[in-house]
Amino acid sequence: MQKFLHAAWATPNFEQTTDFYQQVLGFKVSDWVESRAGFFRAADRYHHSLVLIRAERPVFNHFCIQVESLDDVMRARHNALKGGVKLRDDLLRHAPSGSIGFYMKDEMRGFAIEFCIGHPQLDDATHQPRILPSVPETMNVWTASLPPPGPAAAAAPVAGGTADGAPVAAAPEVPATWAPGTGVTADGSRDISGSAVVAG
Ligand SMILES: [Fe+2]
Repeated sequence: MQKFLHAAWATPNFEQTTDFYQQVLGFKVSDWVESRAGFFRAADRYHHSLVLIRAERPVFNHFCIQVESLDDVMRARHNALKGGVKLRDDLLRHAPSGSIGFYMKDEMRGFAIEFCIGHPQLDDATHQPRILPSVPETMNVWTASLPPPGPAAAAAPVAGGTADGAPVAAAPEVPATWAPGTGVTADGSRDISGSAVVAG
């Protein structure tokens, strides 16, 4: 095991709690999932050391261990299943951080334990908090549909021009659906209604 990476709580006082962790304890917001969850980083700059989730009652959701390799994730998963431990969520990649992992249940205590790799550190000087949509693809990018086949996708120009410097004739049409990791707003607002529940 490499690091005790983060913990996640559900809270009925979402605004007060997120304000407290930022203004009193000094956490920085990394991303929001609509108005339903916030990801907060500490001085070590990992994308999130703390996740707060809006809920009807306060519940400890999970804690996360970062491990050294995908083999460690898979070994932990294998040992959990071999030992009869139930999984809350099987292998996935989160959109907010890009980490890959899984969650095993602690049924006695009612929370989950996440094992993951690939959790990035952010640059405080340049990172702008995003507001990601509350959809299944935010929880797990692998639930997204495959892009439709066809020449349009292969011929899409590179932003800013072609590799040989020629101007781009027309910008590609942006699909109406959100693509994982790109559904971004940066104005800091969180007054967006959502429907799905997320976890970090
Ligand atoms: Fe997590």
